[in-house]
Order: sequence, then C-alpha cells, then structure tokens
Amino acid sequence: MARAMVLIWAYSVLLAMVYLVDGIGVNWGTQATQNLHPSVVAQMLKDNKISKVKLFDSDNWTVKYFAGTGIEVMLGIPNSQLNRFSDNYDNAKDWVKENVTKHLYDGGVNIKYVAVGNEPFLKSYNGSHLKTTFPALKNIQKALDAAGVGDKIKATIPQNADVYDSGSQGPSAGDFRSDIRALMIDIVRFIKDNSAPFVVNIYPFLSLYDNPDFPVEFAFFDGGAKPINDKGTQYNNMFDANLDTLIWSIKKAGAPNVKIIVGEIGWPTDGNINANAKMAKRFYDGFFRKMATNKGTPLRPGPIEVYLFSLTDENQKSIAPGDFERHWGIFRYDGQPKFPTDFTGKGQDKMPVGAKNVQYLPQQWCVLNSDIKNMNLVPENVNYACSLSDCTSLTYGSTCNKLDGHGNVSYAFNMYFQMNNQDVEACNFQGLAKIVTRNASQGDCLFPIQIVSAGRRLTMVTGVSVLAGLLTLLALF
Ligand SMILES: *[C@@H]1O[C@H](CO)[C@@H](O)[C@H](O)[C@H]1NC(C)=O
Ligand SMILES: *[C@@H]1O[C@H](CO)[C@@H](O)[C@H](O)[C@H]1NC(C)=O
Ligand SMILES: *[C@@H]1O[C@H](CO)[C@@H](O)[C@H](O)[C@H]1NC(C)=O
Ligand SMILES: *[C@@H]1O[C@H](CO)[C@@H](O)[C@H](O)[C@H]1NC(C)=O
Ligand SMILES: *[C@@H]1O[C@H](CO)[C@@H](O)[C@H](O)[C@H]1NC(C)=O
Repeated sequence: MARAMVLIWAYSVLLAMVYLVDGIGVNWGTQATQNLHPSVVAQMLKDNKISKVKLFDSDNWTVKYFAGTGIEVMLGIPNSQLNRFSDNYDNAKDWVKENVTKHLYDGGVNIKYVAVGNEPFLKSYNGSHLKTTFPALKNIQKALDAAGVGDKIKATIPQNADVYDSGSQGPSAGDFRSDIRALMIDIVRFIKDNSAPFVVNIYPFLSLYDNPDFPVEFAFFDGGAKPINDKGTQYNNMFDANLDTLIWSIKKAGAPNVKIIVGEIGWPTDGNINANAKMAKRFYDGFFRKMATNKGTPLRPGPIEVYLFSLTDENQKSIAPGDFERHWGIFRYDGQPKFPTDFTGKGQDKMPVGAKNVQYLPQQWCVLNSDIKNMNLVPENVNYACSLSDCTSLTYGSTCNKLDGHGNVSYAFNMYFQMNNQDVEACNFQGLAKIVTRNASQGDCLFPIQIVSAGRRLTMVTGVSVLAGLLTLLALF
C-alpha cells in the first residue's frame, strides 16, 4: 500500500515535470485599446494547455490573476524603466518587493523569470539602452537574491536575434555583433554565473519580409528548402540555423552551456502579402511538429523552451516595423482562434479553445452614409479615423484590401468607432457616417465589434498611434 502510494506520488511528480518541460509558453502583450480580462486569459491558457506566460510589464492588477493557476509567469521591465534600476539599487529592491515577493504567498503566482528590458540592443534603438541594461540586470538579480528568491527566480534580458550574426557564412561563423560584443560577453558570463537563461527572439517571417531573395521554404519546417551545409552540418530551416548561430556565439563567449529560451517566435496573419492565416498555420504546424520530436538543433539536441508570439492582436502597436505588427495573434483581439493547429505537435488539426465569457459591445457598426453625394470631405475624415485607429487590414496583401472605395471609408469609420467603445460621437465624421445594425463585414474582411475592455487601464486612443496611422494613410490614398 505504502509502496503504491509512493509510486503514485513519484508518478504525479514526474507527470508535473513532464507537463512543465513540455509546456509551451506564450507572450501576452496589451498594447490594444480593449484588452481581455486577465482571468479570461488565464482560463484560455489552461484550456489550451499553455503552461507559461511572458508579460511585458509587472502590472500587479494583471499579475494577481495568475495566482493559484500554476501558470509560470515571466514578468517584464520595459526599456523606458531601465535607467531607474541601473544606478539605483534601492529602486530595484522596491520593485522586487512590490512586484515579485508580494505575489509569492502560498497559492500565489508562479513567477519564474524577470525580463529586464525588451530587445534593448535592437539596432534601431541607436544604442539608447547600452549603458543602462546590464547594470539594471545586475541590480534586479541582486535584489532577487537579497529577497531570498534568487535561486528560483532569474533575471535575464530578452534579446533580438540581431545581437549576433554570421556574416553571410554558416552558423559556425556566428558571433556577437561587433559594436556590442564586449558587453554581450559580460552579460552572457553574468547569466551563466547566475544559472539564468539567455532569452532570444527569432523571426523567420522578418527574414522573409526584409529580404525578397530569402528562400521561402527555409522559413518553414516542411523540409522543402535547399539545405545550407556548414562544414558538414546540414541546416534545412532558418530557425535551427539561427539558434545554432547563437550557440556558436555563446561558445566563443566562454559560456557554451548557458540555457537558451526562445522568448518570441510566431507568424503574423495580416498586414503583408506573406502575413495570412494560411502561412501562419503552415509555420506553426511545422514548428509544433518539430518541438514534439524534441530533436532540438544540430548543435543542441533536446527539448527547447519557447514562448509563442503572440496570444492576441494588439491594435495600438507601433507599425514602424510594418503593418503586420498589429496582427501577431494566434487569437484575434477578442480571444477567438484564427486557424486550426495543435500546440502539442501531434497533428490533431482543430481550432484552439477560444476565450470564454468575453463581453462584446452591442452589434452595431459605423459606416459611410450611402445617401451622401458630396464626397469632398471624405479623404480628411478617413485620414482622421485611420490616424487614430487601425487601418492596417486595408493595405496591400491584407484581408480588406479588396474592398471598393465605399468599403474602405466604412472600414476606417468603423475601426475608429469600435476602438472608441462605440461612442455615438465617434460615428459622425462631419455628417458622413451612420450607425447600422446590419453586419458590415464583407467576405474575408471582418468589420469587428469591439469587446468591453477589462481592467483599470484607460481605453483612450492615444497619440502613440497617430504617426502610425498617418503612415498607413500614405498607402491608402
Ligand atoms: C498594486 O500596487 C499598488 C502600488 O503601486 C498598491 O497600491 C495596490 O494595493 C496594489 N494592488 C494589488 C492588488 O496588490
Ligand atoms: C511595479 O511595477 C509597476 C508596473 O510595471 C510599476 O509601475 C511600479 O513602479 C513598480 N513598483 C516599483 C516599486 O518599482
Ligand atoms: C535612430 O536614428 C535614426 C536615424 O538617425 C532615427 O530616424 C531614429 O528615429 C532613431 N531611433 C531612436 C529610437 O532614437
Ligand atoms: C459579421 O460577419 C462576419 C463575416 O461574415 C462574421 O465573421 C462575424 O462574426 C459577424 N459579426 C457578428 C457580430 O455577427
Ligand atoms: C481601398 O484602399 C486600399 C488600401 O489603401 C487601396 O489599395 C484600394 O485601391 C482602395 N480602393 C479604392 C476603390 O479606393
């Protein structure tokens, strides 16, 4: 009897470990006018057996909803906060006290990592965070250690894959970017000494987007690509080649065994000719199949810990990188799945479980009033609507690109109306618009009904998207 009990116990511990090791993670960003409630998200993750979530801040109202769920949480510190922690250890101690240890009561939040900054050394940041990031990392880890939780909770820095390269040669030529090599070597050694992981974001989609000559098949995992031969090692997908370039780089930095986590990986579904549900499905299906084999990469066989990018679309993200930037969700803005796939990689092709108990705004849309004869005022009003909402689905290659002129205007008006919580005054446009109760969607082009935004965040359309919207507009007219 006792022996059976021990066996059952051992078995359940093993099961829990397998579940954790195998468990896939997902990024949840909230740069949207209306966000799902964190309790809805926690349930969604459980329903889909997603066992880890990576957040981009540490908002305590959000984090507390992961208490008691067992879901592993990676908290984030935004780049804009790095200088607060780089030269002030007390700030780091206060942060850990308020945003980490407060959640660690019995039955609390399973916090595992703190992401200090997000891709802070991205080339396009022009070195803005080069001085602050590493000192901030050190202070946060020191504060975690001082609070007695440093063994369990590790600080790290999610890096974009642009911190290393291999020129135009194979992965074995890989090394950290020359302008930041010394700094990266210090960081890698610090991470190694603290048994923390190196977190890297890898985007085959962006390779394809940035380089029209990039071999399409190499972005996927279907085996159709012409392999790259790197001194006898064959690479037939970009993911393996990229990860092994990093592994060569950390080898050269004297820390060959540092744990690596893929902090972001995914494929967008709109806003570009290569961003659609079909290609996203192809990418994820292949990726999940690969993950299920636990084959790893040629240099590092075995399971890989990954966080998908992303859970939902975010209609207020900057579109400086491209119109696809607001469409990374595996789920739409309202938590409904976009395409069938199987997170376990076992090939069971079914729709992921959508968000439950989502509250929608009333079933009404804002469209161009077809009685209007004088269209002179239309361009400036569309301009206004797009600059303050999200018209990225109208652009070339996108789901709403085939609308006629009338449809384009209605789409812009409706997005503005919905993102402003269907405020009656947000459907005026100098008398050009009217509210209708007939579904304005056309074919594959969804005219969304927004959700009731959860939480204490203000849901105003902010100036952040103004420039982005104006850029979209240039494409519109
Ligand atoms: C969140 O933190 C603030 C201080 O920043 C505190 O006043 C509030 O009580 C905290 N809320 C929760 C739910 O812990
Ligand atoms: C805790 O995190 C929140 C959200 O990121 C931040 O606004 C707040 O300043 C942090 N608290 C401290 C004491 O740093
Ligand atoms: C970086 O420099 C470029 C070119 O000078 C500029 O356009 C861009 O706004 C800068 N970015 C940041 C984040 O400072
Ligand atoms: C409107 O129609 C679209 C496509 O036909 C559909 O996907 C969407 O669910 C409909 N919206 C509502 C609120 O019924
Ligand atoms: C609608 O907008 C799209 C995206 O800018 C544009 O390509 C298309 O030509 C527009 N259609 C009409 C009829 O104006």
